[in-house]
Amino acid sequence: MADRITLSVIKADVGGCVGHAGVHQALVEKAAGMLKDAVGRGLLVDQCATAVGDDLELIMTHRKGPDNADIHGLAWETFKRCADLAREMKLYGAGQDLLTDAFSGNVKGMGPGVAEMEFIERASEPVIVFMADKTEPGAWNLPLYKMFCDPFNTAGLVIDPKMHAGFRLEVHDLIEHKRITFSTPEEMYDLLVFIGAPGRFCIKAVYTKATGDIAAVSTTERLNLMAGRYVGKDDPVLIVRCQSGLPAVGEVLEPFATPHLVAGWMRGSHHGPLMPVSIRHATPTRFDGPPRVVALGFQLNGGKLVGPQDFFADPAFDRARQIANELASYLRGLGPFEPHRLPLDEMEYTTMPDVKKRLEDRFEKV
Ligand code: F6R
Ligand code: MG
Ligand code: MG
Repeated sequence: MADRITLSVIKADVGGCVGHAGVHQALVEKAAGMLKDAVGRGLLVDQCATAVGDDLELIMTHRKGPDNADIHGLAWETFKRCADLAREMKLYGAGQDLLTDAFSGNVKGMGPGVAEMEFIERASEPVIVFMADKTEPGAWNLPLYKMFCDPFNTAGLVIDPKMHAGFRLEVHDLIEHKRITFSTPEEMYDLLVFIGAPGRFCIKAVYTKATGDIAAVSTTERLNLMAGRYVGKDDPVLIVRCQSGLPAVGEVLEPFATPHLVAGWMRGSHHGPLMPVSIRHATPTRFDGPPRVVALGFQLNGGKLVGPQDFFADPAFDRARQIANELASYLRGLGPFEPHRLPLDEMEYTTMPDVKKRLEDRFEKV
């Protein structure tokens, strides 16, 4: 159907500069060039290539639906060529997120993170693409809960007749590969039992109750689980549609005014505050962090991406950054102790097996 549009955001770390802090401009330009070519040959309607931390982010609109082999192939080819350039430039960790050579029609399970939604473009279609670095997919649980379930965050849940019925939230169990859908507000407490454990249960998508329309979708890849060894955190992406019966732009941004603690940061093995920043400031530094989140807003016009508006460039988020810096300093004071350091089973790096083995003989029964 001609009026259905798909918004695909596909991301990968294909090489950092300097270290894991950022992406070299040459890679962003290379990616943008390849996506522009794809617009030229009619594969994409529009594109925006950008970077958050050491992740290259491909924001694309098209008419081919989610999980399309041509779109995924384009993303894969773009990452491959950018990884080649990263290798030539001796950038850090070149090709890090590309786990295999053989592309089989879909990038899922191959390293990149994927968030895609298909919908009929409304008379006016505001969307926000959130992109985070140095954290994991569960980082979206708390903000998504606030946007779509918390009347203290989203006034519309109480006073907008089009939102008053609530939403449906699809939750994925990333360990047992199962999913379940909760209906809110009536199942809020059941929902919270699961999403309060963001290392395992992640909100994959949100739907309106009345029409079943998609309202939000996130990446839920866990690279470390796929690769079975450390290959970086799964710096996640989230797409949210806004307004007219969905949370307003300001209600969608509001959860980030109070930084919450997320898993990731240094060596993917620490809790830290999620700091909202502009694209210009999306380069983690202190202890490789603190973890960052960027929000780019677009109005869609026949699939064209009108924008972006770099929302967290606004001084209204200065206070959140200040709180994040305070929290970061406090947590850093704990050094190698939990809860700054993640529990053993959640760490990306660990020397425990080696140390344990070496000291095996010295352990006595008590
Ligand atoms: C975390 C991250 C960095 C690296 C750290 C060590 O997601 O990307 O904190 O884990 O800089 O990196 P390597 O092992 O490459 O020296
Ligand atoms: Mg990296
Ligand atoms: Mg990253």
